[in-house]
Order: sequence, then C-alpha cells, then structure tokens
Amino acid sequence: MKRSLALFIAFLLVGNLSLKADEGMWLPNLLEKLNEKEMQDMGMRISAEDIYSINNSSLKDAIVRFGGGCTGEIVSDQGLLITNHHCGFGSIQKHSTVDHDYLTDGFWAMSKKEELANPGLIATFLVRMNDVTTQALEGVEAGMTQKERQDKINENIKTIKEEATKDTHYHAIVKPFYYGNQYYLFVTETFKDVRLVGAPPSNIGKFGGDTDNWMWPRHTGDFSIFRIYADKDNQPAEYSEDNVPYKPKHHIPISLKGIKEGDFTFVFGFPGRTKEYLPSYAVENIAVERNPIKINLRDKRLSIFKRYQEQDPAVRIQYASKAARVANYWKKMIGESKGIKRLHGVDKKKAFETEFVEWVNSKPEAKKEYGQLIPEFETYYTKMLPYEQAFDYFIEAGLGIEIVKNAGSWKSLINAAKKKADKKKLEKIANSLKGRVDSYFKDYYQPIDEEVFVSLLTEYKKGIDPRFKPEFFNLIDKKFKGNVKEYANYVFEKSIFNDKDEMIKILDNPKASKIKKLAKDPAYMMYKQMINIYIGDIQPSLVSYSNTLDSLQRVYVKAMMEMQPEKRFYPDANSTLRIAYGKVGGFKPKNGTEYRYYTTLEGIMEKENPDIYDYVVEDQLKKLYNKKDYGRYADKEDGKIHVAFIADNHTTGGNSGSPVLDADGNLIGVNFDRCWESTMSDLMFDPNFCRNITLDIRYCLFVIDKFAGAKHIVDEMTIIE
Ligand code: ARG
Ligand code: GLU
Repeated sequence: MKRSLALFIAFLLVGNLSLKADEGMWLPNLLEKLNEKEMQDMGMRISAEDIYSINNSSLKDAIVRFGGGCTGEIVSDQGLLITNHHCGFGSIQKHSTVDHDYLTDGFWAMSKKEELANPGLIATFLVRMNDVTTQALEGVEAGMTQKERQDKINENIKTIKEEATKDTHYHAIVKPFYYGNQYYLFVTETFKDVRLVGAPPSNIGKFGGDTDNWMWPRHTGDFSIFRIYADKDNQPAEYSEDNVPYKPKHHIPISLKGIKEGDFTFVFGFPGRTKEYLPSYAVENIAVERNPIKINLRDKRLSIFKRYQEQDPAVRIQYASKAARVANYWKKMIGESKGIKRLHGVDKKKAFETEFVEWVNSKPEAKKEYGQLIPEFETYYTKMLPYEQAFDYFIEAGLGIEIVKNAGSWKSLINAAKKKADKKKLEKIANSLKGRVDSYFKDYYQPIDEEVFVSLLTEYKKGIDPRFKPEFFNLIDKKFKGNVKEYANYVFEKSIFNDKDEMIKILDNPKASKIKKLAKDPAYMMYKQMINIYIGDIQPSLVSYSNTLDSLQRVYVKAMMEMQPEKRFYPDANSTLRIAYGKVGGFKPKNGTEYRYYTTLEGIMEKENPDIYDYVVEDQLKKLYNKKDYGRYADKEDGKIHVAFIADNHTTGGNSGSPVLDADGNLIGVNFDRCWESTMSDLMFDPNFCRNITLDIRYCLFVIDKFAGAKHIVDEMTIIE
C-alpha cells in the first residue's frame, strides 16, 4: 500500500478510535465511571446505579443468562421471563409430539398448573462482580513462561473463588479481561426449575426462517415465555411440585409508548465472544482465508440438503434443524467477510499497526518491551494458518459427512474392545451409545449423505495441504482411480454405520471380538485417519501457537492502552454481563437503498406465501389484521402493529433474548439478531452499518393477548401506557 493511503486510512481509523458511543460492550460496575455521563447526554434518564447496584436492587437483578448461551429478562413479580423463540426452541421441541405439536401450533399455559418443566434448563443471575486483578496476578513475575504464569494465576483464582462463595449456595467464576491484563470475579445464583409458559407457533416465532435470518427488514416474532420457580424460601431448588414462582428482587416494567428514530436505547445481556483488538494478520486469517473455506463447504452441504428437502416433506422435517444449524453461521460468515472487505478492515488494521510501530520506535522503553510484537504476530499467524485450515477441513468437510461422524461416535467402544475391556465395561459404553441410534436414524437420509460425501471429499482433496492429507485419499487414487463416487459406493456398502439394525445388534450384545473388527470399517477408518492427524499434528501446533499468540495479545492490548491513554477501551465479549447503548435508527446498506428503522404487520401480510413453509401466516393473525383489532398494542402515531426495529447497539451471539430498554429503563423490545451488514462487528464495529434487530415488545404482547388469548400472562406484567 502506498504510504499516503496508509496514512489517510490511519487518519480515518484514529478518528474512529475516539470511540463512538454506539461501539462497545461495557461492564455494568464501571458504568458510572466510564459511561453514565455519555448515556445521559444521549438521553438516558436513569442512573448507572439504577442499572447496576451492589447495595440496592437494580436492573441487573432482572437479567439472567438463559440456558447455555442466551439471555432472558424477568417481567413480573412472579418470576415470569421473556427470551427468544430460538432460545426456547429446544425446550419447546422436547415437549412436542405429533399429538401436541407445540412447535407448529404454539403453546400457552392457561394456568400455572399447565406450565411445563424442563429438566436441565437453568437461569443464572449475577449477584455481584468485582475487579480481582491484584489478587489474581499475585506472585506473577515478568520473567515467567506462559505456563508458569497461568499455573500461578489458576492457583490464585481457586482461592478467590473459595473465599467468594464460602457458606453460600452461590457459584463463583473468575474470568480474564483484555487478554489477561485484568481479572474479574462473578458471583452467581442459578435456578434449576424453569418452566415453559408460552410460545407462539413457529410461523410467528420463526417467521421468515433461514431465508430472513440475519436480515433486515425482518418480521420474526422471536419470543418465548418461561417462569422461574424456587423453593418455599425463594431459594434455587431442583424441580419439585412444591416449588413456587420465584419472587425477583426486580422486574422490568414494559412500555407501550413506542419509540422513534434517534431515541436512546440500551441492551443488557450476555454477549458471547468478540475479537476487536486483533492484529491485521488475525483478521486476514479469519475473514480472507478461513471463512471462504468454511462457507464453500457449507454451501455444498446446504444446496444438497435443500434439493432433497424440496422434493419430500418428510426429508424437509428430517433436515430442518441440521440445515438451520449449518445455515446460521454460514450466513454469518458470509456477512462477516463481506463486511471486513467493505470496511477495508485488514488495511485499516495495518495502517494502525504502522502508527503503532512509529509510536513504539519513538520511545526507548516501549521499543524494548513492544518492539517485536507486530513482526511476531506476522510470524505466528502465518505459521498457524495452515493448521487452522486443516482443522477447518477436518471439522467442516470430514465431520460434515454423517456416516463418518457417526462412526467416530463409536471410538471409545472400539478402543475399549481393542484394549480387552471386560464385558461390563463394554456393555456400559454400548448402552450409552444405544440411546443415540434411534434419534440419529430418525433424521438420517442416506441419499443426502452419499452426495454430501462425494461433494465434501472432492473439496477436501482439492483444498487440503498435502501435509495433512489423510491416507484414504491415496486409496481413492490407487484403488478407485481418483473416482470419489466409486469410493463412496464402496464405503456405504461395506460400512455398518448406515445400518441401524446392524448397529443395534452389536450394541445389544457387545462382543469384543466383533467390535474389534470395526476398526477396519471403512467409515470408521476415515474418521480414525483424520482424528490421528488432528491429535498428532494439528492440535498440538494449534495449542502452542494460540498460547504464544494469547500472551502476545495481552502485551499488545496493554501497549495500545499506553499508546492511547485518552481512549476508553471496552473488553471483548466473554459471556459476562454487559451493556451496549446507542440510538434507534435505520441505515444505508448499499448505494441507492435506505432502510427504515421499523417493520409492521403489513410486512408480514406482504411476505405471506402459503406454499413456502417460512412464510405461512396463521388465519387468526390475518383476522386480527383485517379487523385492525390491535387494542392498546398499536403504535400511538400510525395505529399499526410494529413488529421489529433496529438500533446501533453493539451486540453479538449470546445477546439473543436480551432486553432492549428505553431512556427510563423500561422494556421496549427483545434483541434477537443483527443485520447482515453488521456481522463483522465481532471483529470491527462500524456505526454506519451495525444494527441489532429487536422484536418490538408491543408485537410480543399483541401475540400473547390478542392472538393467543392468553391475556392472564400480560396481566402479570407491569405495563406503562
Ligand atoms: N441469527 C440469529 C442468531 O444467531 C438467529 C438464529 C436462529 N434462527 C434461524 N433461522 N436459524 O444467531
Ligand atoms: N441470534 C443471535 C444469538 O443467538 C444474536 C445475533 C447476533 O449474533 O448478534 O445470540
């Protein structure tokens, strides 16, 4: 790049470095110090103390981490909780049968007795958080190796956690921030009896399906309702009939007032992972080198799925959830790579690095400490890339073939047989495998897998660095003259891992002599050859490079903070409670197009198509629309039902289900997605393009009350009109 251009881009970047309010996922306990004034200048009418307080009840007492990776918020004094439909999806599905198909028809508990228990589903509150950097780093010295350093820190963390939870039922976790420059303690309380209260039918909760996923304009009613139960003393307890609705310290009032362009909003939840401070080499690896490989491999799979799904409704159902899973991050990666390209993300990072090096060179102290950082990043990211790509091929291509992945799930059984395990041990493993066979074959369609096999292996063969090429590719060349299709026929004919009866027969009577032979099963051998390369070669290098890069990154972030003492740094997301704030507003996704900030019920009627599964509209919804029977949920100005809106809050995966709040801390919506043009914000945020997508709370209540006739649920809530 020409130097003048580099400087120009650096100038743009530095402009950005002063940090727009919209960028950032901030720590609740530092809000008063870092953000309160700005939030209030932007229109917020409450205080940082109202959001997070150590001594009094505050907004944070109404936020939970829901299940494994979503957020939920408490909206009544009886523990009622709102999250996304896609976050409750697993629970809704588990209660669904052909007779009560809650996924298709929706579910509404008409009394507390009808609410459904969900073993394993948890909701976790944050009790308090503290900076424990000093204790965590006690005894850590400059000359230590990364391992010595980590061992020392782990030892300190253990003590911190023990002290924090002594004589309580709380749980403690200590997490690194800024790549280990700071440590925070989180004390949490987990409730284990969380019941399903309501869910709309999928053609509301998942309206638009994967076609509309990650996109604006959006019309998905992505919500579901749960309730937290506690024991008689309001303490967490395992499910019991005697449990009672949890009395929260705080529940969030709901505003029906509506919102306008430019209004202040904030999102309070548990964003999973972002990587905003990476060097250019890392961003290039992700967005330019790795994403395209994964996108291509997923493309192949998805188009095969789709072709068969369109031919046969039974196959559509079999592959619905698999396709959704593959499609979600496929689409995210496409958006991310495009976004980085549009932003000239790699060049911007490089320009910053040029400036960084100039700063380093201008100070002898800095030069000593940081002089090698950028070249080292280059060296290690370059060295690591082939291992990362080999890993991507293993996961996305190798294990994208169902018969191979299925064979791999028998690894422990086959190993045990080879190691002459006794009958009891074999039976134990066999029993645990037996449970999976039925559900695996219920959603398995061999013609799809055969095509996927050929397609993915062809790509694998083309793309993989010869160093990491599994042995079976030689077999294909020698015995099958390079014909992957013929090799596939051979594998599918010889393997037992596409034969349910044979698999069950072996598991019912697990004999070592028989199981041992499976080590030669062609599908199993494929798995084995790949995993051997992974464990023997790929993984150790990945671990060692990532350790090195982690410690470089820690030093880099520290250096950046010294270089830019005026800049407010926010820590990367790491599944801890954060606040993002910004303003409601549309954007210009591309030349000649401008997006408005909200959608309405009219849009659902426009998208309606009874022949396309994702766009079916319920009669009851059409009736309400035709009669304009909207009650108090209509917008005060235009009289319409607003379905979703966008704002420039900085969010990521894990923010699903997060409350979106107004200037008074009242609930105006539920976060459920990001616009496609925003998905690079995990690596680089741009206020011109980044918008989170929020379900308008008025549409949610309209569906519960008017569509489902479950007004008793709305009556529990505190409504501000
Ligand atoms: N893109 C949203 C989030 O990660 C929603 C995903 C669920 N919806 C779907 N159509 N697959 O993750
Ligand atoms: N749907 C995502 C989730 O499940 C949120 C979208 C995003 O990545 O921002 O958390």
